[in-house]
Amino acid sequence: MQITRRMDYIPPHYTLSEVDLDIQLYSEKAVVISNMMVHFAGEEKNTKNPLVLDGEDLELKRVAINNIPLEQGKDYRVENTNLGMKLIIKPSVIPQNAPFNLQSEVVNYPVRNTQLHGFYKSNNVFVTQCEAEGFRRITYAIDRPDVMAKYKVRIEADKDDCPVLLANGNMVESGVAADSKTRHFAVWEDPFPKPSYLFAMVAGPLDCLKDTFTTMSGKEISLVIYSEKENVGRLGWAMESLKKAMKWDEDKFGLEYDLDLFNIVAINAFNMGAMENKGLNIFNAAYILADKDTATDVDYANIERVIAHEYFHNWTGNRVTCRDWFQLTLKEGLTVFRDQQFSADMGIPVIQRITDVRNLKARQFREDAGPLSHPIRPESYMSIDNFYTSTVYNKGAEVIRIYHTILGEEGFRKGMDLYFQRHDGQAVTCDDFRAAMADANGVDLSQLEQWYMQCGTPEVQVTVYMDPLSNEYTLTFEQDNPKQNMKATRSEIGVSPTPPLHIPIKLCVLNSDGDEIYGPTTVEMKEKKHTLKIKVEKTEKLSQLVPSLFQGFSAPVKVKHNYTLEELAFLMRNDPDPFNRWEAGQKLFTTAVLDTVKELQGRDDVGSRCGAVSVNINPTTRILVDAFEKTVLDTKMEMGYKAYCLTPPSIAELGQEMDIFDVDALKVATERVEDAIIEEMGAKMFSTCLKLSQVLENEPFKYTKKMAGRRAYRNALLQWAFKMHRMDHFEMQFEITSYAASQYVHANCLTDQMAALSCLCRVPDNPHVCLITRYICRTGMRY
Ligand code: PHE
Ligand code: ZN
Repeated sequence: MQITRRMDYIPPHYTLSEVDLDIQLYSEKAVVISNMMVHFAGEEKNTKNPLVLDGEDLELKRVAINNIPLEQGKDYRVENTNLGMKLIIKPSVIPQNAPFNLQSEVVNYPVRNTQLHGFYKSNNVFVTQCEAEGFRRITYAIDRPDVMAKYKVRIEADKDDCPVLLANGNMVESGVAADSKTRHFAVWEDPFPKPSYLFAMVAGPLDCLKDTFTTMSGKEISLVIYSEKENVGRLGWAMESLKKAMKWDEDKFGLEYDLDLFNIVAINAFNMGAMENKGLNIFNAAYILADKDTATDVDYANIERVIAHEYFHNWTGNRVTCRDWFQLTLKEGLTVFRDQQFSADMGIPVIQRITDVRNLKARQFREDAGPLSHPIRPESYMSIDNFYTSTVYNKGAEVIRIYHTILGEEGFRKGMDLYFQRHDGQAVTCDDFRAAMADANGVDLSQLEQWYMQCGTPEVQVTVYMDPLSNEYTLTFEQDNPKQNMKATRSEIGVSPTPPLHIPIKLCVLNSDGDEIYGPTTVEMKEKKHTLKIKVEKTEKLSQLVPSLFQGFSAPVKVKHNYTLEELAFLMRNDPDPFNRWEAGQKLFTTAVLDTVKELQGRDDVGSRCGAVSVNINPTTRILVDAFEKTVLDTKMEMGYKAYCLTPPSIAELGQEMDIFDVDALKVATERVEDAIIEEMGAKMFSTCLKLSQVLENEPFKYTKKMAGRRAYRNALLQWAFKMHRMDHFEMQFEITSYAASQYVHANCLTDQMAALSCLCRVPDNPHVCLITRYICRTGMRY
């Protein structure tokens, strides 16, 4: 296999304006006759170059140009190159006058295709998946994203086997096939030029859910979601989510849907979450089907989000697409950013941000710290399929967020407007996006390119210095960018230092009353070292000032700052930024655990007798217990947010803070810290859980972010209370177990049922639990 390099990009010699496909579908095979309008690319008529078409696993029957059949060997050849199979047409048979018609006929075998790439069968449904290079598995084509054409497709199949025939765009004709009683056809036309990777068709026995959406200019769009018959009852949430996404894109970005209909299909066998084919999104069924018995609140949130993500691609990805696959983050980073903003607006923004940052740290930070580390815009690849990574998607979204943070909501919108104004209908690059953002706002954003060049998670060290004489408070930031993009610059390693990144730092400084004496503001760090001097009123005690740094996680970096325990506890209560409040709690918990680890390490009984190790409560744990208590007692806080504040970092997250990942010590230490919390708070947590349960019990199930938040909080409390099983409160244990069993039996949704079950299976004495559960099942007793 050959390596493809970003720097080696050359524009195509030939382009296509129209692609007309005639697809005959049989149970065993598909016959594809394609007619393509071929043009010379650029200005000059260059017929010196052969016309090279991509193809894979195809049986070629014939090729013709302007209706003149070509002869294999003499006029064309099929060759297995190190870039895959190619159909190469000699320059000598290419007409001088373009455009010309290129016709071909191939046979392919969807049933035999187990790659989930190209044209395949999932259960009884024929379905395509073309991104990134699957179109060439349907027919010979110039299969690259910078070749955009208008597609028309006629699908013909058996009426009974394939009652539903779908493709991109609008259906312009349908009927019974000539000379046949058993076959029918449909013709679909997509008026928007698109790259081949956005082509899609589906044929099979499907049922559907229908609805409509009226766009901002008053056009009524027909919305249809297809699935297998037994699943149509579970499509409602996806439909609701779609309508919300359509409305949001209009309100937020002025982006309106552009076809008369929008179709979605759910299938079981799918490689990814979903695919944004123009007017015909195709989903993994798991990302679409929901009802209270089969989907948790997290599933509901994911469905809302992925439906929106694919819909948003209609503008960011489809109307404006990528010039080459190195630009993947142009559409993915931007579209993830858009779905994050959407989900934030649909719910509680801080909860969304916490979810996104946790995901970034758990997946992308780890990827970037290991051997698969790569920049969001890679420099080379062997197979582009391997580049659908957390880095391209999630770090890519953080880089888009940097534009948003620097330019502000309005400036970002101006940039987006100019981006569409300039590039609608084009295949462009990440540089084009940056230029649009910069030009729309009259600013220089060239330094942001470094975010596309380098891999690794940068670190920013923050130190404070207080000068009581001049009443000056100084914050110093120093950035350290661990890795260059190795592959691109191997020869330069050790020669040129990593250029500094442009990093937005959203911050404020608080006095001991919790008042903001400086900020909130965004500091733009552009040098390796940045100093911020703040003049402070004589009355402020400099030693009591606390900075709130990188609010809302304003850049994808690791922030190094030595907060004291008291400062963390203070921020947990007083930071005006709710994200940082949550993070301070996480840091406090981490510190409590790591302090306990230090006490444990060196003792040889740690691993073998976990439960029996006793450690005195250290001062950090004391502070943490108080903080937890305040959180539980707080009546003003959003419950969904409280749930997050009560959820400690995972062992994996804690491990990232240790030089050597000492799992045994970490486990024991975590349990000791938790024990301290429940010793003091367990009973209170349980009674709060019960009180809340009484309220929840009387509500019929509905998925809203608010209600999901209440469930999450109640279940977090239950989990904490359940930890009392490690202690000697036998009566309490019995009560808690009975309650959990009852919640399991009477739950009106999967989330509550699973939360109860996950507690119950951790009870050491399982038969006991079974008995209680069975008793409740039989008697229907309510707690
Ligand atoms: N483009 C899809 C998305 O991000 C992901 C995908 C890639 C699906 C490749 C299938 C194949 O929404
Ligand atoms: Zn995407």
